[in-house]
Amino acid sequence: MEDSNKEPITTEPQESGAPAEQQSFSETPVKKRSSFTSKIGFVLAAAGSAVGLGNIWRFPYLAAKYGGGIFIFTYIILAVTFGFVLMIAEIAIGRKTGESAINAFKKLNKKWAFLGVLCAIIPIIILPYYSVIGGWVGKYFVTFISGGGAQAAADGYFTSFIASPWQPLLFFAAFVTIVFIIVLFGVEKGIEKTSKFLMPALVVLSIGVTIYTLTMPGAAAGVKYYLLPDFKNFSIKTLLGALGQLFYSMSLAMGIMITYGSYMKKENRIESSVHQIEIFDTGIALLAGLMIVPVSFVFSGGNPEVLGQGPGLMFVSLPKVFNSFGPVGGGILGGLFFALVLFAALTSAISLMETVISIIMDKFKLSRRKSCVIAYVGTLLLGVPSALGFGVLKSVSIGDMTILDMFDFLSNSVLMPIAAFLTCVFIGYVIKCKTITDEIELNGKFAMKKFFNVMVKYICPIGIAAILITSILDVAGVFSL
Ligand code: PFF
Repeated sequence: MEDSNKEPITTEPQESGAPAEQQSFSETPVKKRSSFTSKIGFVLAAAGSAVGLGNIWRFPYLAAKYGGGIFIFTYIILAVTFGFVLMIAEIAIGRKTGESAINAFKKLNKKWAFLGVLCAIIPIIILPYYSVIGGWVGKYFVTFISGGGAQAAADGYFTSFIASPWQPLLFFAAFVTIVFIIVLFGVEKGIEKTSKFLMPALVVLSIGVTIYTLTMPGAAAGVKYYLLPDFKNFSIKTLLGALGQLFYSMSLAMGIMITYGSYMKKENRIESSVHQIEIFDTGIALLAGLMIVPVSFVFSGGNPEVLGQGPGLMFVSLPKVFNSFGPVGGGILGGLFFALVLFAALTSAISLMETVISIIMDKFKLSRRKSCVIAYVGTLLLGVPSALGFGVLKSVSIGDMTILDMFDFLSNSVLMPIAAFLTCVFIGYVIKCKTITDEIELNGKFAMKKFFNVMVKYICPIGIAAILITSILDVAGVFSL
């Protein structure tokens, strides 16, 4: 399609190893595609999308909720099997077709265009509630830098904040507006570059906080709960929770990695890149969990209600740690921590919004500017129910699921497994594994080829279908595992 508002795309190699994140999303529909100049550029860009609130906020609360060590054990097994296979497959599809998800499946097989559409729906569902959590992080950042650390650490602070009729809305709207402005003016390259310094800072700070919290009395029991698998705690929910988290955290089963793959050069190796992204993403999630779960154990005395409370865990436990450094130290530490998390959330939200924009541009043949405005207004409208779901709209719930939980469940535990299942069937039985493995072998041997073939054809689709069906029956109350 033609788009007068778009800058011409450069196909020149870039000077530094810096990846072309911005082009990678904003210039989807042009014929000539730019590409990441180096493998490390590709890995960093993909890891930049992967590392976000999923690692820092979502992983720790799921680990605490679903039995600690057993969740981690399940997650790691799934990451090196299902995660590895799907990420390889998506990147290879992207690189082979040179298209983003919505067109890639169509290009490989016209009848399967619907799978591209399914993948496209998922970021549209995620972005609004992702931004609600981004708003919560913003609120804590503001509270800490304005000297309110002690209040933030008090019991009941988080619950009264999310139950307030306008505060979550205000911070949510502010977060979406910042993302919108960055995307509209196309300055995300600067943001992404800055985040290359800030993300290591977040890792260093998290390590510091973790070491400090692990010296607190009672932390050892928390570490044991977090790391040692107890098979008594295993249930189908652990499995589905871990699978959904895997897709979410690694930005899989929603077309994102297909888009990234479409910008990868033929001479870069897919297999080793995937290993690196997986190690990076899982490492940060494990670290965030080690920072948050034991300390939640310390402050709650191992109370299962606190551990199982869900989305609020990070916001309830960490302020207490920061506050123990006194008003000034706590303010600086807390302010810095939430600023860095805010940055991680922003970079991921930007890549989500860019995806949504490129879908609108592709589907409705609109200019980039118009598509930005539609994505912005749509995200604002769709996010309101999630933002108010803990207060004004609290009565709207299914079981103990709030509106935000429902969107989260729908995308991560229903749509993503379906998209992942269909992707495996598509590769294994429609275009055949060879199409993908040939792409991977363009520049060297694919060490895990046999494993990949067996996984894609049999184990992944059967496993995903079994997990999905059992958990739907479980939720529907047909039986409980
Ligand atoms: N993987 C991100 C996280 O763990 O926070 C979430 C995400 C970001 C998903 C960007 C998709 C995406 F395009």
